Amino acid sequence: MVNRVIAIASGKGGTGKSSVASNLGIALAASGRRTTIVDGDITMASLGIMLGLKRMPITIHNVLMGEATISEATYDGPHGVKVVPAGLSLERIKRIDYEKFRGVVNELKKSNEFVIVDCPPGLERDAMIALTSSDEALLVINPEPSSLADALKVKALAESNGVKLTGIVTNMRMGEKTEIRNEELEKLFGVKVITSIPFDKHAKKASSIQSPAYVKFPESDFVQGISEAAAFLIGGKPIKKVKKGIVRKIFESIKGVFKATS
Ligand SMILES: Nc1ncnc2c1ncn2[C@@H]1O[C@H](COP(=O)(O)OP(=O)(O)OP(=O)(O)O)[C@@H](O)[C@H]1O
Ligand SMILES: [Mg+2]
Repeated sequence: MVNRVIAIASGKGGTGKSSVASNLGIALAASGRRTTIVDGDITMASLGIMLGLKRMPITIHNVLMGEATISEATYDGPHGVKVVPAGLSLERIKRIDYEKFRGVVNELKKSNEFVIVDCPPGLERDAMIALTSSDEALLVINPEPSSLADALKVKALAESNGVKLTGIVTNMRMGEKTEIRNEELEKLFGVKVITSIPFDKHAKKASSIQSPAYVKFPESDFVQGISEAAAFLIGGKPIKKVKKGIVRKIFESIKGVFKATS
C-alpha cells in the first residue's frame, strides 16, 4: 500500500478542519492504520490541545528550527494515533523557516500509512506550504456561500501544485433550505462529498473539554460522519447515508477486513 499524506483544508476559518483532522486521524489509527496527525497551523497550535495532550515540551517548532528530531516532537494520542503538535511561542514563530515543513511531512510519510495535515485557514504562505506538502486534500466546507469562494481557491491551488483533491467533507449542516446541497457541491468541485456532518453540539463540547469527540462521544452524529470519511479513505467508496449506528458497524467490519489482510 502507498503511504498517503492528506491535507485537511478549507480556505475559510472555522469550518471544522482541526476537529475533522484530529478525529479522522484517531479513526484511522483505531482501524489499525499507522497514522500521524501533524499540526500544519504552526502559528495557532490548537491540535495538541484539541487532542487532550497535557505536556508538549518539544513541538514541531523545535524540529523546524533544527533543535529536535521529529520523533522527539511526536506524542501518543487516543487509539494509537501519533500527534506532532505545534508550540505556542510567538518568538519562535518569527524565526521559523516554514519551507522545512515539507521535509517533516516527507519524513513522517516513510513510517505512516496516513499522515493527516491540519491546515491553517487562509491562503498565506503557511497555508500554501501545509497544502502543497501533501499528496491529497480533503476540503472541509460549510454549506454556505461564504465557505465556497475560499474552498474553490484552495481547489485551484491544490490542483495547480499537483495535490489531488480526494473529496469534500461537508460540515455543520443545519438542514436549512438556503444551504448548498451536496449534489451542487459535487458539481462545483468535481469530486464526491465523502461525508456530510451535521451541526452537532457534541463537537463543540469536545473542543471545550479538550477531549476528542471520537473518544468522548462515540455515538454522536459528528463521530458517525468521521467514521464515514475514514471508511472512504480505507475502502475507497463513499457510504450512502444509512441509519445512525449502522455506519459505525460498517466501519468496524471494514476495519476487521483490512486488519486481517494487512
Ligand atoms: N459539526 C460540528 N458541529 C458543531 N460544532 C462544530 C462542528 N465541527 C466543528 N465544530 C466546532 O467549530 C469550532 C471550530 O472548529 P475547528 O477549530 O475544528 O475549525 P477550524 O477550521 O480548524 O478553525 P481554524 O480555521 O480557526 O483553524 C470549534 O468550536 C468546534 O468544536
Ligand atoms: Mg484549525
